[in-house]
Amino acid sequence: MSEHKSVPALFAPAQLGELELSNRLVMAPLTRIRAETDGTPNELMKEYYAQRASFGLIITEGTWPIQEGRTWDTQPGIATQQHIDGWREITDEVHARGGKMVMQIMHGGRISHPELSGTGRIVAPSAIPSPNPIRISTGKVNAPVPHVLTQEEIPEIIEQFVTAARNAMAAGMDGVQVHGANGYLIHEFLAPSANTRTDSYGGSPENRARFAIEVITAVAEAIGADKTGVRFSPEHNIQGAVESDHEDALATYFALAEGISGLKLGHVEIVHHEPDGDLVQGMRKLIDAPVILNTGFTRFSNREVALGLIENSVADAVSVGRLALANPDLAQRWQEQAPLNEPNPETFYVGGAKGYTDYPVLQYS
Ligand SMILES: Cc1cc2nc3c(=O)[nH]c(=O)nc-3n(C[C@H](O)[C@H](O)[C@H](O)COP(=O)(O)O)c2cc1C
Repeated sequence: MSEHKSVPALFAPAQLGELELSNRLVMAPLTRIRAETDGTPNELMKEYYAQRASFGLIITEGTWPIQEGRTWDTQPGIATQQHIDGWREITDEVHARGGKMVMQIMHGGRISHPELSGTGRIVAPSAIPSPNPIRISTGKVNAPVPHVLTQEEIPEIIEQFVTAARNAMAAGMDGVQVHGANGYLIHEFLAPSANTRTDSYGGSPENRARFAIEVITAVAEAIGADKTGVRFSPEHNIQGAVESDHEDALATYFALAEGISGLKLGHVEIVHHEPDGDLVQGMRKLIDAPVILNTGFTRFSNREVALGLIENSVADAVSVGRLALANPDLAQRWQEQAPLNEPNPETFYVGGAKGYTDYPVLQYS
């Protein structure tokens, strides 16, 4: 018993909703764009995820529910039988190694281009293009003006999330994570800079939160709330989803938290630089669900921060991005205070095994 007590809670087995995890260290969703051009996951991806099965939970890279929601070439999808079969091989391997895995379902919204979407259009809440260029086959180009989703089209998009969630479960996932962060479609509805609608999906904080609540509720009804998670990044201010008015952000994300609190979701992941601040902890009080925290891009999620978040009960689990891609055995390294591999940003988004499956694990002679 005393032996067990000496293990910090971060590294000890834990229950996250219905999921039994081997530790509270979560691999954050990390886009690596190494699937086939039609979005089918491949052997290389299987090796990469299998190497990281010792994380308590793996959240997959953002995966498109329908090609119109695709943001990059060779980003994986979960729309076809080939996608399901490819992901099934990955979940089987991760499970065989004792890991757990949920799929991040990501509709890119206006962070796309007709060349990628295949429908001749890209969609968003309002006709405001992304301020960032979009990468297509000829290089980086200005983001196009998106098609404004009509009230009639919104249920179709919600249905696309639902179908993708069902497909993810058919692929053997332990659950899904709806991507509501980082400036993609759901976040575009939340952020006043990207949503200037005057109907029931725009204007007030409650209205801007509506689409997110509807998507999450529909997915939870389809696959079970305990299998459904979501990621938000309030005040992250990237890709033109700007939430610079703190009072407005509080009102929007509290409305959102209230709208999903009755569901009893499997998890809610929040990306924020101030995990113990009023926004995150206010949301946490309202949401009746385990909270995974990610401290965001401003600093690396390091060992001391992660340990502190759990020891001080600021979060139920901690997700780690860059150090997870560079350290397949991060839980062991952190537990033993062993040296870490440095992530190489030059290989984040290029194809191939280099900087993907060749980061070494600890070797003992
Ligand atoms: C290469 C790379 C790809 C990422 N892809 C995604 C993604 O697909 N979905 C997502 O929600 N966040 C994505 N993120 C953000 C990470 O999940 C995480 O929030 C961020 O890296 C900060 O955490 P860290 O300091 O532990 O790296 C990505 C980050 C990086 C570096």
